[in-house]
Amino acid sequence: MSHVNSSVGGVLEPILDRYARNPHHLMQILRETQERLDFIPEWAVDYLAEALALARVHIQAVIDFYAFFYDSPRGKYRVLFSDNVTDRMQGNTALLSRMLSKFALDQGQVSSDGLVSIDTTSCTGMCDQGPALLVNNYPVTQLSSQRIDQICELIKAQTPLVEWPSEFFNVEDNILRRDVLLSTEMASSQALKRAIELGREGMLAEMKASEFRGRGGAGFTTAVKWEACKNAPGETRYVVCNADEGEPGTFKDRVLLASFAERVFEGMTIAGYVIGASKGLVYLRAEYRFMLEKLHAICDARRKANLLGKDILGQKGFDFDIEIHMGAGAYVCGEETALIESLEGKPGRPRIRPPFPATHGYLGQPTVVNNVETMAQTTLIAQNGGAWYHGMGTNLSTGTKLLSIAGDCDRPGIYEYTFGVRIDKILEDCGARNAMAVQVGGASGTCLARHEFGRKIAFEDVPTSGAFMIFGNNRDMFEVARNFMHFFKHESCGFCTPCRVGTTLMSDILDKIASGKGTHYEMNELSRVHQLLRTTSHCGLGQSAGRPVYDTLQKFRPSYDRRLKHKDFEPAFDLDDALASAREIMERDDVSAHLGTES
Ligand SMILES: Cc1cc2nc3c(=O)[nH]c(=O)nc-3n(C[C@H](O)[C@H](O)[C@H](O)COP(=O)(O)O)c2cc1C
Ligand code: SF4
Repeated sequence: MSHVNSSVGGVLEPILDRYARNPHHLMQILRETQERLDFIPEWAVDYLAEALALARVHIQAVIDFYAFFYDSPRGKYRVLFSDNVTDRMQGNTALLSRMLSKFALDQGQVSSDGLVSIDTTSCTGMCDQGPALLVNNYPVTQLSSQRIDQICELIKAQTPLVEWPSEFFNVEDNILRRDVLLSTEMASSQALKRAIELGREGMLAEMKASEFRGRGGAGFTTAVKWEACKNAPGETRYVVCNADEGEPGTFKDRVLLASFAERVFEGMTIAGYVIGASKGLVYLRAEYRFMLEKLHAICDARRKANLLGKDILGQKGFDFDIEIHMGAGAYVCGEETALIESLEGKPGRPRIRPPFPATHGYLGQPTVVNNVETMAQTTLIAQNGGAWYHGMGTNLSTGTKLLSIAGDCDRPGIYEYTFGVRIDKILEDCGARNAMAVQVGGASGTCLARHEFGRKIAFEDVPTSGAFMIFGNNRDMFEVARNFMHFFKHESCGFCTPCRVGTTLMSDILDKIASGKGTHYEMNELSRVHQLLRTTSHCGLGQSAGRPVYDTLQKFRPSYDRRLKHKDFEPAFDLDDALASAREIMERDDVSAHLGTES
């Protein structure tokens, strides 16, 4: 081994040892490598390829796939402004420009001294306390011009992040309405003890009786999933907690993990008990890196209390432990099969289904994938029984739901409601007086106009994974849809053509309309491409990507129409534009130097 390699080894060997040189832990190994070196240099890729017996090209493909892995140096301070539509509404664009001009940088550029790079990223899950940014993956919330100036000074002085004012990094829970999940006091072992008393079949029976449906978005009945996994052939089973929470406008899982992690881990342990799994994996989005140490500490405490580990609570053979894996900035990894690919150390591309994870999941073994909130709610069912739980909500949507409320309202934050709550009641509670539209369920969800505010949050009416973004009278719904479309274009994994091409096409068409060059032809194209995306895309990302455009076209058509310069026809060649250089030479820009345009 060369001299270079032995010093390289000094950096990489402890990381490799920590992950037992397991290639399935590639994501974690790359993350820690980058945390040490600021980026992942070529020599580290070479070293890891040899140490993990992986093809170099595989490691490079993983680095290329994830937005938060870098194979070339970024700034010592990597600043990423959260760019959800709610951040825009809170003024992130002006703050970004302010910071760029202070460092005389363009967006995405690294300063020549290597000190700083500034760019945008998709929603960071801080919509209730934005605008927000990430600096070296740690969130700074409640940005203002003053705070931006302070950050610039701290960076110029090369102040380590640990010495920055701690209030910069405050992430509030903002829980503003509690129902059973957020108000029930429960000792850390209580639900688990009750599940053990019930036995595996008994606990499953309670889940069935509750008719509980998963809270990750699709609303699949949890007991059905657990039973399929429990009965699937295979020696080893897994429980996966989906904490990817990448849907723009959603932040309720952040709050559950910040303040109810015991409950989440207990739910995972109960799931493990029922299906017969001995390992649980949490897939935590990279934007929530700031919680990692605390979550590890909670797992350690649970191990000490014999709530994780071997023979849990004295039950011979009931072994279950939890590992936390971090994502690296890819929305598609919230899709359960992409998430499993990522957990296995690969690019997060959705698998072909069937087979489903319940029978062929992590490492090809039966796996239950559930959302963070699903795991937490499970403890209530264990504790109080399925019939009790079934008594809340509506016929097809039992229990309560957490909503992440953001946008044009006085009191953004977390609200827990029983299913069946009307939209207008929610708007009243959070102080949204002039709401014109609500985007329920994030960018891929449903856009509701004012005449629909009597509708209800429920799987049978308006389903949601939790996002609830409010747009007041003065908002431009065309721009909202354009922001979401840019998001989907950016997040498409590129695996299938309809989504890769379709999201780009729709995004480009919206940009064309925004620049005043759209016609009815483009409007028709939007609907046509949306249909194509919806019916031919491989996974839910592509299938729902055109939805915000479709909804706003139906409900807020004037916001599109008023941008159409020519109604029916846009000449392929703009003669007036082509004459611009001639006008410049003649130093003329008066009306008669222009060709007439349609008024
Ligand atoms: C593009 C895409 C992103 C998703 N993101 C998430 C996510 O961040 N969190 C989540 O729980 N489910 C997400 N899902 C849904 C998961 O695929 C899966 O249905 C869910 O984790 C199952 O959990 P549940 O049964 O508890 O609802 C996403 C689906 C798609 C298509
Ligand atoms: S629909 Fe989009 S995100 Fe899903 S697999 Fe196809 S390209 Fe990837």
